[in-house]
Parts: sequence; structure tokens; C-alpha cells
Amino acid sequence: MSEPTKFLLREEQIPTHWVNLLPDLPGDPLPPLHPGTKQPAGPDDLTPIFPMGLILQEVAQEPEVEIPEEVRQAYGLWRPTPLFRARRLEKALGTQTRIYYKYEGVSPAGSHKPNTAVPQAYENAKAGVKKLSTETGAGQWGSSLAFACSLFGLDCEVFMVGSSYDQKPYRRSMMQTWGATVHRSPSELTQSGKANAEHPTGSLGIAISEAVEVAAQDPDCNYSLGSVLNHVLLHQTVIGQEAILQMELAGDEPDVVIGCVGGGSNFAGLAFPFLRAGSKARFVAAEPAACPTLTRGVYSYDFGDTAGLTPLMPMYTLGHDFVPPPVHAGGLRYHGDSPIVCALVKQGLVEARAYKQNETFEAALRFARTEAILPAPEAAHAIRAVLEEAEAAKQAGEQRTILLNLSGHGHFDMSAYEAYLAGELEDPEFSEADMEAALERLPEAPAIA
Ligand SMILES: Cc1ncc(COP(=O)(O)O)c(C=O)c1O
Repeated sequence: MSEPTKFLLREEQIPTHWVNLLPDLPGDPLPPLHPGTKQPAGPDDLTPIFPMGLILQEVAQEPEVEIPEEVRQAYGLWRPTPLFRARRLEKALGTQTRIYYKYEGVSPAGSHKPNTAVPQAYENAKAGVKKLSTETGAGQWGSSLAFACSLFGLDCEVFMVGSSYDQKPYRRSMMQTWGATVHRSPSELTQSGKANAEHPTGSLGIAISEAVEVAAQDPDCNYSLGSVLNHVLLHQTVIGQEAILQMELAGDEPDVVIGCVGGGSNFAGLAFPFLRAGSKARFVAAEPAACPTLTRGVYSYDFGDTAGLTPLMPMYTLGHDFVPPPVHAGGLRYHGDSPIVCALVKQGLVEARAYKQNETFEAALRFARTEAILPAPEAAHAIRAVLEEAEAAKQAGEQRTILLNLSGHGHFDMSAYEAYLAGELEDPEFSEADMEAALERLPEAPAIA
């Protein structure tokens, strides 16, 4: 065929190392702070809930970290993932711009999340841990960890954000099929859950508090986080490394790299290897207008969870106890973001944009009706940004190259599609007043510039 649609790699081309962007950031990195003392948190402060293997990755200063062979073997179940040229979408848009997407929905759980679930389960099993507890928003992360725990013989306990638990019953069945136990959050099982009973839709912040509490009280149980932390972003860089090789196969280079941002891991996974390689591209992060952390939040130290159990991290935040409205992109309902991604936004190296739910689903349908894949609602935010970028190129009379991270499929999000198709999807308003109130409760910590 003269016009290929897919650019594929061989299994031996699965990367051997992860890309660590920490040493590339200008200036001294701002350390996380201990939630009690507010002093810089060292590796020892993290040992109650994380294995040393992951803590060392969290603070690693080497530009690359080797991927253990067992993890590469497990990656072989679905990696390398395909890169597609969106020829049908381009044609429908009538654009000269070339659009590519890296599709992470081919993983067993249906998103990029197993890229980090597998090494996290591996390091915990190696350290003799018996069980992992975690939170899940959309259910993608909980399913991924349930799958990874099943690979390495670990028990898995998942606190699922209430609104998603109700919207996505089959995500719950999927986790249970892989052997996990699933609770609706806020639950009656933890102090943090009981303290938040007045927020029945839940939030990622509350669910994280519940899962951390369970891990902190059980010596055989560790906690596992699906985004935000440095080691999680590190694991995701297999995406961008493969994409660089695949863009070479296509004989093209991106002018714009786009991903959605919940905690920042799929965006980072695609973007960081391009940043490391000195790419000339612009980097665009897409988030929900109902939870606009990067576009409306303040840059400050804040807790990663609602109850204030995690270390304080330097990031854009809407306030740790801000409860975002229940949009369908559950994986993007988080009050903060990865400190590394936030630092890049602060430095102007990454542009952030926020989109409403209906315009996002309009983009999702446009994509499904041309490229055939039903995108996850989270990924649809990035597709919305692609449509805007393609239009901007057309207006400028330029032919640009856009690279999108299609982080997952939406096969378990059909209630959201159904609501959109019935014209019943709402555009919940972000409440400035709620954010201001939550920001009043930011913890005392050194100011950051
Ligand atoms: C399909 C999908 N994309 C994106 C995200 C957002 O997370 P992150 O910003 O860490 O990639 C999620 C989170 O659950 C998700 O399920």
C-alpha cells in the first residue's frame, strides 16, 4: 500500500530503559514535604507505603532507568502499541495537516495505565509485599492494577470514586474478574471515608486518602498510585520512545504533541521523550473545564489527597478538599497534577487548555465516526485540542504535523455516550467560590515561585 495507516514496531523494539526528565529540569527540583513536619520528605518517609525499588525511581537523578526484564516480558503482552495516521479524520476535516495518534487502548485494561501498574506490582512483589491498595476514578487504573497484581500473585483492594462506581458497573466486574476487591468511595471502612460521607459522588482525593489509610495500617499492604508521582510518569515514557521510532518510520516529525491531563502521566509518557530529544514541537495539555487544575489552579505546595495523609507536593492545585463536579472523564477529576508537568507549565514549556464536557464528546463522536475507535472520555479532551490545532493550522494556511496520545478506549463509558447521544449530557460549571474556599485550607508551607 502506498499510504500506510499504521506504523508498527517489533517486540524487541520495546524500550529497554525509561526516560527520567528530572535531571533536565532547570534549577533545583522542589522536594516533596513531610505532611506533619513540613520538612523535605526523604526516601525513609515513604517506606510505610512504597517499596524501596519504587522510592529509588521516584528520586532517581540518572537520565535513564533500566526496565527489569520481567517487566519488559509482561509489556510484551500488548507492547509496542500501534501509531496510526488519522487519514480519515484528516479527510473529514479537509485539512492539509497530518494527524497521528499513538493508541494505548490495546492494553488488557484498555488504556496506558498498565505501563506503570506492571512495574509497580513487580517491585512490590519483589519486596515481599502481599497486597496493594489503590483508588480509581474512571476504573481504568483500578483495572490495570488488578490485572498487574494477578500477574505477580498480589491481592488488590480498590476504592472506586462513587460517581464512577455508579456509572461504570462493568469496570467493577473487570477488576473482580482479575481477583480484586472493590469498594465504593467514600466508604464506611476508613476514617477518611466516614469523614467525607457528605460528598456521596466522591473524588480521587477522598479515594486516595482511603487507600493510603488502609496501606499505612497493614504491614503486608502497600499503596499504589496510578499517576502524579515521578516514578509513574517515568514508567509511561515507553509511549513516547516508541512514538519517536514510529514517527521516523512515517518520515515525519510532530509540530504539536497533545495529551489529556488528569495527574499528568499519559501526557508525560508521550511528551517527555520528545522533550529529552530536543523536539521543536509545542506541547499541549488538555483538561476538563469542570476541574481546571492547570488553567485555573494556584501554584503551591498541597497534599495529594483530601485527608492530608500524603506528602505535600509543589503543583498547580484547586485545593486538596475541592470536590470536582461528577463529569464522565472520572480520570481527570483530580485537584492537583504531577509536579514535573506543573513545573513545565509554569516555565511555559507546556500549554494547558480546558474543555467542556459536551464539546469534548462532540470531538469523541467525530473521531469514532472517522477513525472507528471509541475514545475514553479522558482522551476525548485531547482530541478536542487536536481539532482546534488542525483548524488553527488551516486558518494560518500551514501544513502542520500533530501527534496525539489516544490514552484509552471508552468501551466501559457507554453511559456517557448514551447521555450525549440523547442530548442529556450536562456541562457542569466549575465553581470559583468552591475553589476559593478550598484554597483557604491550603496547608502552611513555604511559598513557591
Ligand atoms: C484513558 C485515560 N486517560 C487519561 C487518564 C488521566 O490520567 P493521567 O493524566 O495520569 O494520564 C486516565 C485516568 O484514569 C484514563 O483512564
